Amino acid sequence: MKYVIGIDLGTSSVKILCVNQKGDVVGEVTKEYHLFQDKAGYSEQNPDHWVEQTIAGLKELTSNHPILPEQIEGISFSGQMHGLVLLDENNEVLRNAILWNDTRTTAECEEIYRIIGEERLLNVTKNPALEGFTLPKILWVKKHERETFARAKTFVLPKDYVRLKLTGKLHMEYSDAAGTLLLNVAEKIWSTEICNLLDLPKDFCPPLVNSETCIGTLLPEVAEQAGLSPHTRVFAGGADNACGAIGAGILEEGKTLASIGTSGVVLSYESSHDKDFKGTVHYFNHAAPDACYTMGVTLAAGYSLSWFKNVFAKTEQYTDFLNGIELVPPGANGLLFTPYLVGERTPHADSTIRGSFIGMDGSHRREDFVRAVLEGITFSLHESVEVFRNHNKTIDTIVSIGGGARNDIWLQMQADIFNAKIVKLSSEQGPGMGAAMLAAYGCGWFPSLKECADVFLQVDREFYPNKETVEQYKGLFETYKLVYKNTRELNEKLMKYRK
Ligand code: XUL
Repeated sequence: MKYVIGIDLGTSSVKILCVNQKGDVVGEVTKEYHLFQDKAGYSEQNPDHWVEQTIAGLKELTSNHPILPEQIEGISFSGQMHGLVLLDENNEVLRNAILWNDTRTTAECEEIYRIIGEERLLNVTKNPALEGFTLPKILWVKKHERETFARAKTFVLPKDYVRLKLTGKLHMEYSDAAGTLLLNVAEKIWSTEICNLLDLPKDFCPPLVNSETCIGTLLPEVAEQAGLSPHTRVFAGGADNACGAIGAGILEEGKTLASIGTSGVVLSYESSHDKDFKGTVHYFNHAAPDACYTMGVTLAAGYSLSWFKNVFAKTEQYTDFLNGIELVPPGANGLLFTPYLVGERTPHADSTIRGSFIGMDGSHRREDFVRAVLEGITFSLHESVEVFRNHNKTIDTIVSIGGGARNDIWLQMQADIFNAKIVKLSSEQGPGMGAAMLAAYGCGWFPSLKECADVFLQVDREFYPNKETVEQYKGLFETYKLVYKNTRELNEKLMKYRK
């Protein structure tokens, strides 16, 4: 038997999967790392921790499974998007990485609009200037840490850094490059116009490759530490959302994904590189050949639930914590939650807004709050579904992955709020599986990713919308949408009290 490894470099941990030619996961290891949140809005990680934990995870995987190193034919990656890793001329890290969920860069977004122009930026990059994207982070370091920036030769994104340290080869691939705001998405080239206008150093952007490109093999010393063969082929990989989509079979027009991890996304396949969503949703290159996808993002999706549990029920298991929500009727007895704990992206690109519970009543119990949190996260994702439908995309079947696919009540809630059939996959593995599929395709196991998905992915269960509940949620969704407008000013006033 032959195997491939998919490495998913997430925000809280790296998850490593070993997959055989039938798509069975035969080994899985997760290794955590620290998130530095020293000030409100700041979110950083040490890139060398990613590398150390990835190598330690590979070692654990190869030690615990009786697989010969030569049987592992390929490795590929999925990674948290947008994080800025600045490198010096020796490709060494210059400062901690500034992550996708760091929102310190509002002034830099304004500067980008002032210098490039909002319309021109949208024409070239297909996306608006958002705090989470890479370019504003580059400008922040350029302005606030001049000495560090003066030593910067190039930059990469999180998984590119790990791949660099595993292979010695420096690259970025299109699906992640699309989230930098420096890529011409339709033409798949770096925008020299934007680089020049913002006075970035010459050759600042790294060489670009496709996701399925074999960029080389493991460095001998890394292979030894990880218990792998130095001949193992390494493929470029993709952004976590693109890999999540591949791992859920979102490989043709009409297929949509709802993924609830720390952040939540609704993502839809696009065969065209050149449609115009006017920046209302993200428009990125897919990690599947010659495709794009559009995507709406809820910044605090699973994070809203884990935040609530950590604050109010820290020691409980999730099964106990979610117990009883099935007895609470849709609408949580009049309690409504907006998940804006770290600001929001779609459809309100707003780093100042914060979450609310509206309608608290003396009769509410904890189950009402938990149900309201789940409903609020799902309503937020539904705002993205609504944008797609308003642009004439048919959204009638959605594959649900991540935390949102682990609870049947939440899956039914998604069917009722999205008013679409929800598909749950058996053995759903998220972006790590997409990364493994890129390696399997790159190794030539299948003529296309679609044919790989036909073998690797199976449907477990489908959830259908319940007409009556759909109507109830339609009404409540209109009220949900009013909360943003009505709490925006209040949150601006509260801002000065934040740490
Ligand atoms: C997408 C985004 C997040 C991260 C999470 O634009 O910022 O989904 O990719 O890792």
